[in-house]
Amino acid sequence: MIHHRLTRRQMIQLGVGAAAGIGAIPRPRGTDLSLLQSSESGGDLAANMAQQPSLKYQAIASGLIYGAASSMKDLKNDQPFQTQFVRECQMLVSEWELKWDAVRPTPSTYNFAAGDWLVQFARSHGLLLRGHTLVWHWLPQWFEQTVNRQNAERFLTEHITTVAKRYAGQVHSWDVVNEAIHLDDGRADGLRNTPWLQRLGPDYIEIAFRAAAKADPKALLVYNDYGLEYDNRDDEAKRSAVLKLLERLKSKNVPVHAFGMQSHLMGHEARLNPGKLRRFLSDVASLGLKILITELDVVDQNLPKDIVVRDRIVATAYERYLSVALDEPAVIAVITWGLSDRYTWLSRFYPRKDKLPVRSLPLNDKLDRKLAWSAIAQSFKGRSSR
Ligand code: G3I
Repeated sequence: MIHHRLTRRQMIQLGVGAAAGIGAIPRPRGTDLSLLQSSESGGDLAANMAQQPSLKYQAIASGLIYGAASSMKDLKNDQPFQTQFVRECQMLVSEWELKWDAVRPTPSTYNFAAGDWLVQFARSHGLLLRGHTLVWHWLPQWFEQTVNRQNAERFLTEHITTVAKRYAGQVHSWDVVNEAIHLDDGRADGLRNTPWLQRLGPDYIEIAFRAAAKADPKALLVYNDYGLEYDNRDDEAKRSAVLKLLERLKSKNVPVHAFGMQSHLMGHEARLNPGKLRRFLSDVASLGLKILITELDVVDQNLPKDIVVRDRIVATAYERYLSVALDEPAVIAVITWGLSDRYTWLSRFYPRKDKLPVRSLPLNDKLDRKLAWSAIAQSFKGRSSR
C-alpha cells in the first residue's frame, strides 16, 4: 500500500498544517499524515483511501472482526448504503430491532418481523450477527404495570428463551445484559436500580445469562456497558464496579463469556490514561473473558465547525483509543455504532448546536471514506500480533 506523504503545500491547503504546526491538534501517534485529507476536500489522498482494502479485510488480516450497528429500515431502504455496509463489515449488530420495545408490542405477543429480516440479511450476505440486547432497562410502556415481583422471573426467562431460541445457532454473540452498572444509584455493588433489580434483586443478571446459555449454547454471551474509557473519577469507579460484577459472576460459574466495552468516545477534553485503560482490559481478560468493542463512535457535538479540523480530532480519538485497546489480545472485535454519518444515533441524541451534520463515523453522509475510516484501518495494522 503506497502512502503519499503530504507536501507542505497540501498541509497548508488542508488548513491542518497551521494547527499541527502550532500544536493545536497534536499529531496522533501512528497516523500517516498522508491520510489527513478529509474526503470532502477531494484530491488524490481521498482517492488513495478509496482504493484501500475494506475495514472488514484489514480487520481479518489483524485477527479481528470489524462490524457496525444498523437497522432493517436503513439496510432495506438504502441500496447504496447496504452495498457499502456489506463491503466494509464482517458483522452486523441490530441497533434496535431485537430490543424489548421492538420485539414485544404487548405482554403476550412477539414481533419478530424485523429481527427475522436482519437474520436473513446477515445470512444471505455472509455477515456475522450480534444480538442486542436481551435484558436492559429500556422497556416497553406496558412493562411497568404488567411485570411485578411475582411474575418477573417468568417474563425474563420466557423472553430470553423465546428470542434466543428463535435465532439459536445464527447469532455470533448476544449482549445478554446491557448497562447494569450505574454508580449514581448509590448501591454498594454499583448496580443500576433497574426495573429488573427492583423485582428480582441482583440475581436477575445470573438468571438472564443461564437462560441465554440454555436457549443458545453456541452464542458468545456478553455483558455490555459504557462510560469506562477515560481517566476520571467516574470512569475509574465504574471500571472497578464492572470488574467486581464480572468477578462475582465468574466465581459463581455464571456462563458469561465476554465483556462488551461500548466505547462511545468524546472528541474533546476527555483524557485517556493508556496505563489505566490497558490494566482494566487486562484485568477483564484475566477472568478468561473475551472483549468486544461494541458501540464505538466519537461525539463531535462540541468540536469546531471546520470539517477538516473536526475530522482530524475525531480520527485522533479513534486512533488513540484503539491503539491502546487493540494491544489487549483478548479483544476480538471492533464494532462502530453505525457505519455512516447518514445514520447515526448521535444526530438525534447528541446534535450539534450549530445544526451542522454530525461527523462521527468511518463513512460520511455521502458514503465516502473519511479520516475516521483511515484511523480505524491504521489501528488494525498497528495491532500487536502477540
Ligand atoms: O423505527 C421505529 C419506528 O418504526 C417506531 O414507530 C418508533 C416507535 O417509538 O420507534 C422507532 O424506533 C426508534 C429506534 O431507535 C430506531 O430508530 C426508537 O423509537 C428509538 O427509541 C431507538 O433509539 C435507539 C436507542 O438505543 C433506544 O433503543 C437508538 O437508535 C440506538 O442507537 C440506541 O443505542 C443504545 C444501545 O442500544 C445501548 N448503548 C447506548 C446506545 C446509544 O443510546
